Amino acid sequence: IEAHFAGTANTLSGIHALVTAGPTHEPIDPVRYIANRSSGKQGYAIASALSSLGAATTLISGPTTLAPPRGVKFVAVETAHEMLAACEKSLPADVAVCAAAVADWRVDHAANQKIKKVAGNLPALKLVENPDILQSLSIRTTARPRLVVGFAAETEKVLEHAQAKRLKKGCDWIVANDVSPATGVMGGDENTVHLISAAATETWPKLAKSEVATRLAQKIAAHFKGANT
Ligand code: C5P
Repeated sequence: IEAHFAGTANTLSGIHALVTAGPTHEPIDPVRYIANRSSGKQGYAIASALSSLGAATTLISGPTTLAPPRGVKFVAVETAHEMLAACEKSLPADVAVCAAAVADWRVDHAANQKIKKVAGNLPALKLVENPDILQSLSIRTTARPRLVVGFAAETEKVLEHAQAKRLKKGCDWIVANDVSPATGVMGGDENTVHLISAAATETWPKLAKSEVATRLAQKIAAHFKGANT
C-alpha cells in the first residue's frame, strides 16, 4: 500500500489500519471454552475512529455482542491462532492497534465430542501457550506495520509495568489502562489511559471509550503526518 498524505488536515487517507478487538475463545470441547473478559468496546471504537479519519480499516474481532462499525472491513475469528492468521493475511498495514484480550493459553487437544460430566472424575486440561499477536507483529522483519500500538491493562504500578511491556513486546506505543476494579473500566463505557512511547508519556483524563478512540486516532494521524513532512 502506497501511503498518500493529503493537505494539512490530520487525515488517515491512504493509510491501512489493522485493529484487533474482543476476546478469543479457546475450545475445550464443542460447547466449552476458555476466554478473557472483554466487551470489545474499546477496540471497536478505535476501528471506527480510524475509519472516520479516512483510514482503510480492517477490524479483526473475537466473539462480541457488538455490531461491526460501518465502513470497516470486519473479520470475525474465534481463537488466537485464527486472529493471528487473519492479521497476517491482512498485511501490509501501516498501523496495527492490538486491543484484543487474547487468551494466553489454549487447551492442547480440544475434545471432538462434549466431555461427559462424571461424578468425581475431573477432566485434566493440558494448556499450551498461545501466540502473542502484538509481539509477532512488532518483531516482524518483513511487512512490519510502521506503527504498532499495544494495550496494557494493569491494576498497579501502571506506568512502570506498561513501559516494561512496550519494550518486551517490541511495539512502538502502549496505551496503558488502569483496570483495578474501582475504576469500572471492564465492560464500562469510560477509560482512564496513559499513552506511552519511547519519547514521552501522556496521561489523559477519564474519558468515554469513544473519546479515547478519537484521541488515539488523531495521535496516529499526527504521527504519520509528522513522519512524512
Ligand atoms: O501481555 P499482555 O496480555 O498483558 O499484553 C497486552 C497486549 O498484548 C494487548 O495489546 C493485547 O492485544 C496483546 N496481546 C496479543 N496476543 C496475546 C496476548 C496479548 O496480541 N497472545
